[in-house]
Amino acid sequence: MPKNIKIIGVGSYLPEKILTNVDIEKIVDTTDEWITERTGIKERRIARKDQATSDLGIEAAKKALEDASVDPKELDLILVATITPDMSFPSTACIIQDKLGAENAAALDISAACSGFVYGLVVCHSLICQGQYKKVLLVAAETLSKITNWEDRGTCVLLGDGAGAVVVTSCDCENEGLLASSLGAIGSAGKLLYLPAGGSRNPATHETIDEKMHYLRMQGNELFKVAVKSLVDAAKDVMQKAKVTSEDIALFIPHQANVRIINATAKRVGIPKEKVFINVNKYGNTSAATIPIALNEALRAGRIKKGDLILLDAFGGGLTWGAVLLRW
Ligand code: UT7
Repeated sequence: MPKNIKIIGVGSYLPEKILTNVDIEKIVDTTDEWITERTGIKERRIARKDQATSDLGIEAAKKALEDASVDPKELDLILVATITPDMSFPSTACIIQDKLGAENAAALDISAACSGFVYGLVVCHSLICQGQYKKVLLVAAETLSKITNWEDRGTCVLLGDGAGAVVVTSCDCENEGLLASSLGAIGSAGKLLYLPAGGSRNPATHETIDEKMHYLRMQGNELFKVAVKSLVDAAKDVMQKAKVTSEDIALFIPHQANVRIINATAKRVGIPKEKVFINVNKYGNTSAATIPIALNEALRAGRIKKGDLILLDAFGGGLTWGAVLLRW
């Protein structure tokens, strides 16, 4: 049986359209100053009307496959982390499987909101180390702009669209790949961030549309407190499991929701600013996609080298949280 997994290809895709804070000032009662101070966000990307989540995911997937020099036909599993699937079913993973021509791959969506990519890596680790799957494509893609209430200043300033993808395979080195993981959920706090309608609880009706129940709802400040605690606990847990300290971390890639959440977490975990990757200023919160987009940018910027210890740490709707420690 394989001992571990490794990421052999990384890619991302961001829609071309940029929506700046100044643009948003014309849509809701807000200011560039408020958004920048409270969130660190300056702009975000917005998908075209004709672009669904799978379209973003495919672009990121193609880049990751090219980076890995892997043909889609070699894939035996496709996982897609998303809360904005093209439709309830077929899964976005099946749609991507078809469009990539990855006919030998099983396909499955993961619903863990912003923690979806981290959950996905742990699923990859389990399935690959169990010996059944050899080459897995893990995509995290979101079109949050399509479930955003553009009249709600409390949420619309935060969200953006984008996708990231990795190709994962087995690795037989003891001290390489995924060294430790920690996943959890707080289902009782699910109402802090949720989408009320469109599922079997509240199927779409004229009423649900009138009441804007098909748009994401969030209690931001309550979520803020749980976010920092969960991110800190998850980070400390994986470091303890892998018997490393914060000084051993070469790069911390947290979920990009708010620069204040990132800074508070890094401070409590004991990771200095220069080792924290931040791009929330450019893309806002793209839910599951933030970490693989950041991972791709960090790699391209030369901020990750072989042997580095990388900490990925996420938190989101569910509520869910999760961290993984990777030896690159
Ligand atoms: O991906 C994981 C899920 N998301 C998160 O983790 C997000 C977590 N939460 C946050 O990032 C922050 O709580 C927010 C950025 C959402 C809000 O920041 P805050 O410092 O917690 O502000 P607040 O919600 O306590 O609101 C403070 C004030 C309120 O006015 P009053 O009641 O004090 O008069 C809001 O109405 O700011 C007002 N406000 C705004 N003002 C201008 C809320 N949104 C805006 C806005 N522009 N866009």
